Amino acid sequence: MSERIYLLPLWLRLWHWTNATLIITLAVTGMSLHFSNPAFHLVEFSLAVRIHNIAGVALASLYGFFVIANAVSGNWWQYVPKPPGILERCWKQTRYYCWGVFKGEREPYKVTLETNFNALQAVVYWFVMYLVLPLTVVTGLLFLYPQFAPDDMFGVDGLLPVALLHYLSAAVIIMFAIAHIYLGTMGTKVGSLFKTMITGWHEH
Ligand code: HEM
Repeated sequence: MSERIYLLPLWLRLWHWTNATLIITLAVTGMSLHFSNPAFHLVEFSLAVRIHNIAGVALASLYGFFVIANAVSGNWWQYVPKPPGILERCWKQTRYYCWGVFKGEREPYKVTLETNFNALQAVVYWFVMYLVLPLTVVTGLLFLYPQFAPDDMFGVDGLLPVALLHYLSAAVIIMFAIAHIYLGTMGTKVGSLFKTMITGWHEH
């Protein structure tokens, strides 16, 4: 018999979908700027600059909300990979995604209210949300307000390492988002996890 739990509060779902919309907007305009070509553009250059700046400031504020709301609600604890056997559980989960799921095996781990993420999710979500995303946000803000960037770093113009880190961290987020959407199809049914992220109710 299927069991239903109310897993994700409204604020978390609203944060998630606003965050996803902003990141898609930033990825499209960011790629337009980085690979700008007068002969072909995804979004016209000056429009892409304006949209990227506005969405970037909105994402920085939303990230502040995410950190505070997670701290206040206690949801931050979900992101902490818990010993013992973190590596072993990550491996079990990876094996399931690459092999077991195609063989009709059961998920190695059950979602509960106390432990929403499997070990692999905890490690990856922690890495993206508490390391890579803040790096993209801070380097983006330094680009917007270059007066706060160091004049030089490692013997080169201070904005060069900022640009490199902004580009690399944004690329990691885009790759994460693609894998994340694919793995999002691996619930009980193809649409189950997306439904949970919309309604808050988890079924298994
Ligand atoms: C259109 C794009 C996206 C879709 C369809 C999507 C889908 C989902 C789904 C189905 C879940 C619930 C399953 C799970 O717990 O893994 C989820 C959770 C999550 N997603 Fe996404 N996502 C998208 C974009 C993003 C982006 C861009 C980020 C961050 C950069 C992100 C970060 C997260 C996080 C941190 C959670 C866990 C939230 C929590 O329960 O505390 N997602 N997403």
